[in-house]
Amino acid sequence: MLEHTFSCNTPASKCRLLVGNGIAGRMISAIKENNTGLIVAGSGFLNSWNIEFENIEKSLPEIQVARVEDGEGLKTFDSYIDLIKVMRSCRLDRGSSIAYFGGGTLGDLTGFCASTYMRGIGLLAFPTTLLAMIDSSLGGKNGIDLSDGKNAVGTFYNPGMVMMDTAFLEKGQEHQKQGIAEMAKYGFIRDASIVDDLLSFSDYTALTRYPALPDLIFKCARIKMDIVSADPQEKSGERELLNFGHTVGHAIERASGYTIPHGTAVMWGMRIESQLTFRMFGIKDIASDRIDEIAKRFNIDQISIGEDMHQKLMDAIKYDKKVRSGNITVQVLDGPGSCRNLALPVDEYLEGLGKWLKEN
Ligand SMILES: NC(=O)c1ccc[n+]([C@@H]2O[C@H](COP(=O)([O-])OP(=O)(O)OC[C@H]3O[C@@H](n4cnc5c(N)ncnc54)[C@H](O)[C@@H]3O)[C@@H](O)[C@H]2O)c1
Repeated sequence: MLEHTFSCNTPASKCRLLVGNGIAGRMISAIKENNTGLIVAGSGFLNSWNIEFENIEKSLPEIQVARVEDGEGLKTFDSYIDLIKVMRSCRLDRGSSIAYFGGGTLGDLTGFCASTYMRGIGLLAFPTTLLAMIDSSLGGKNGIDLSDGKNAVGTFYNPGMVMMDTAFLEKGQEHQKQGIAEMAKYGFIRDASIVDDLLSFSDYTALTRYPALPDLIFKCARIKMDIVSADPQEKSGERELLNFGHTVGHAIERASGYTIPHGTAVMWGMRIESQLTFRMFGIKDIASDRIDEIAKRFNIDQISIGEDMHQKLMDAIKYDKKVRSGNITVQVLDGPGSCRNLALPVDEYLEGLGKWLKEN
């Protein structure tokens, strides 16, 4: 069991992180110790792990459980109100905690409810997807979508504890592999050994059988928490390093009408951004070949950006919420595991991207 406590300069200031394999006993203890009044469990997780979850539930007969249909459709105002009402009916008070077992969508909703119910109650996160373990459960962001904007409403609110059981990664491969791009991202921006690790697996199954998987997950989670701790509310710029691959990745998602999943879009977003910084600033492209190889190993779909998508892609970047006073900050890889932010006029970036799109 790997364990670490992080401090974040936010109202809920301490976030304890635990990673292990087969840790149901530790989860039960944490739920008991934190005055948990409600556990929310996602349908996709339960489809794969119902027996294991029922064993946990049986050990906690006095705690209410809400089973919810997860997926992006969960992140709505209606779901928010429904869950708040369940919290109320369970008589959660300011000393209570709420826990969740599920992926990033359930985590984002539960975190938003925890942060706003009675102006904030305890939150325990048991993320069950790769993406949730290494990314969405960490760093305190939560929220719901509006019809015209993903994650448009939300808060910064850290869980007191994030506990990850890597055994849960063994099923649901099609969803789980969407977390691979974020793992690779940590490798490119901070720790090149993560990229080497990823390239040592023949496929996703080999990753889940890797005895040191908890160490690898922990390594990724630590990078996110270290960066976030330095810039908890995205003010100093440090947190922007986590956007490597996301400027173009988000634009690909949006331009495709969200038919291309997030992890796939970020994988190819990292490749395009790396090629663009070579084309625009002459900085050596150290990522493209490795991204191609990782995508092949983990069977990440290739995408093709047809001419009909070019304008949509450019518009998505032009109107990205990260653009401020006509400037955009992009991430530049200086070497293996080394990344810096670079601010430039968005029109200059779009000109470079436009040329790249025409040639590729
Ligand atoms: N808050 C943040 O900082 C942050 C960061 C990145 C992404 N996000 C958000 O996270 C969401 C995506 O998260 P996600 O990829 O976990 O998606 P998700 O929550 O939709 O889960 C993906 C699928 O996997 C299923 N699932 C969950 N656990 C499983 C398990 N152990 N075995 C098999 N299947 C399982 C789910 O039911 C779902 O169908 C998006 O809404 C995104 O906006 C938030």
